[in-house]
Amino acid sequence: MLKHPAFFALLIQIAALLITVCFVVGQTAVELSLFEWSMAQGILAGTISYLLRMPAWWTPMHVFFVPLIIFTLAQDIAPIWFLLLFLGLLLTYGKSFKTQVPLYLSSEKANQVLATLLPKNRQFSFIDLGSGCGGLLSNLSAKKRNGLFYGIESAPIPFLISKIRSLFNPGCTISWGDFWQQDFSQYDVVYAYLSPVPMMSLWQKAKKEMRPGSLLISNTFMIPGVAPDKAIKLDDFSGSTLYLWKI
Ligand SMILES: C[S@@+](CC[C@H](N)C(=O)[O-])C[C@H]1O[C@@H](n2cnc3c(N)ncnc32)[C@H](O)[C@@H]1O
Repeated sequence: MLKHPAFFALLIQIAALLITVCFVVGQTAVELSLFEWSMAQGILAGTISYLLRMPAWWTPMHVFFVPLIIFTLAQDIAPIWFLLLFLGLLLTYGKSFKTQVPLYLSSEKANQVLATLLPKNRQFSFIDLGSGCGGLLSNLSAKKRNGLFYGIESAPIPFLISKIRSLFNPGCTISWGDFWQQDFSQYDVVYAYLSPVPMMSLWQKAKKEMRPGSLLISNTFMIPGVAPDKAIKLDDFSGSTLYLWKI
């Protein structure tokens, strides 16, 4: 818990807030509005985050966190919208506090290239670890009728969307759960689009469970210290790469 980046980020926010409050009450020379002080707090928090070498995406989050709260509270918005937004975010991203794998979707280009990597004439099984809203599986199963496509997702809202989608797609089976509890030996192709955090553990599990000849594909994230058998650069918005390991 203490080593979790979110906890560290909270400490930075509190430190920047305390320094700003001490500055505000300890002097009379500078007079700013509440929003301007919140911007000063944000810039201070962003600077601390940068100096402490938190990953780059934390800097803008720190800068705008408190100013956005002040700005939003100043609007005349009914509290029910905050509750609904909070529940929506909780049911979509709540578990990423623990898994450190948030929801973002494979690009159209990744869908296209993956379809070319799958067997052409024989039956095969494919699993998407953390299948999000199920778009990748729907696309692939429409293109590859010789495949059985499985998805497992732990976030309730993406799971519900993908489950509804799969009702119209007989080649797809979606389940709600934790892919770490899944036995990888049942699949010819295991696809993962996760984050840097679980990649080493994923490799240990894949080595232990996947059948010889089966294929592990990771979108964007490398397994540290394990050279892939093939890397395919995708011409998509994030310039991502598909990494392939033949077991
Ligand atoms: C980056 S998204 C990828 C979505 C989809 N596979 C795609 O390529 O479009 C990763 C997903 O994995 C899910 N996830 C993370 N850890 C998980 C776990 N242990 N078990 C099941 N799903 C998980 C997250 O909720 C998120 O929806």
